[in-house]
Amino acid sequence: MKFKAALAALFVTGLAISAAFGADAVEQAVASCWACHGAGSPPKDPSIPMIQGQQAAYLEKQLHDFRSGQRDDQIMSSMAESIPAKETARAAAMIAAMTWPKMASPSPAATPDSAVACQACHGVDFAGGPGPEGVAPRLAGQFAEYLEARMAAFARGDNSSAKTMAAMMKALDAAERAQLARYLAGL
Ligand code: HEC
Ligand code: HEC
Repeated sequence: MKFKAALAALFVTGLAISAAFGADAVEQAVASCWACHGAGSPPKDPSIPMIQGQQAAYLEKQLHDFRSGQRDDQIMSSMAESIPAKETARAAAMIAAMTWPKMASPSPAATPDSAVACQACHGVDFAGGPGPEGVAPRLAGQFAEYLEARMAAFARGDNSSAKTMAAMMKALDAAERAQLARYLAGL
């Protein structure tokens, strides 16, 4: 009986230790993101997206896509690998719970006609959320330069896991995509 109790106690302590260690490993991995992604303020480089306060399920999918190579970016693939695969959802939830860093001086731009078609998935206010193709990301207040580069990548068919986005971006020309990017960044 005593032996069994001691074993049970050991088992529980072991679980507690591994849980604590897991939390530390994820917190450490997430702390390393802000050198590039900006901590509480927008990243300095507009080719690096804001991710604090982004949709959790979207962040989780991107980290999986970077890890599997379905989304191709060398730096981000190795950063995604720094998060243990089974902890991806928790890391994404931690980042999603932070506050979106607002640009110091956003420049509002006219609403292009093509923006209406995006709202079915990205939301009326472009804050993102669940849609017919899974959870769509927040676009409002994201860097125009980053949005434009991403739209061009979809149009080239770079991301094999986002078929509707690819089709929609192919249907627009570069000038239309640039206009959308400026509008979204100014929201
Ligand atoms: C050395 C710089 C650097 C570090 C450190 C870094 N990232 Fe990134 N991250 C980037 C760049 C550059 C991109 C844009 C990649 C692209 O254009 O596809 C990006 C893109 C992303 C995206 C896609 C966002 C979107 O809107 O689609 C996510 C999610 C992301 N990073 C998460 C993380 C997480 C989580 C960490 C920390 C574990 C991290 N990043 C650390 C440079 C970095
Ligand atoms: C049918 C739903 C749907 C429609 C309509 C749609 N999107 Fe998307 N969009 C998505 C989803 C889902 C993703 C995430 C794709 C992935 O998993 O990589 C996405 C991703 C994006 C991204 C990448 C953002 C980032 O942080 O990297 C941009 C930019 C974007 N959409 C712009 C647009 C624009 C502009 C329109 C309108 C012209 C539009 N989308 C219409 C569903 C949609």
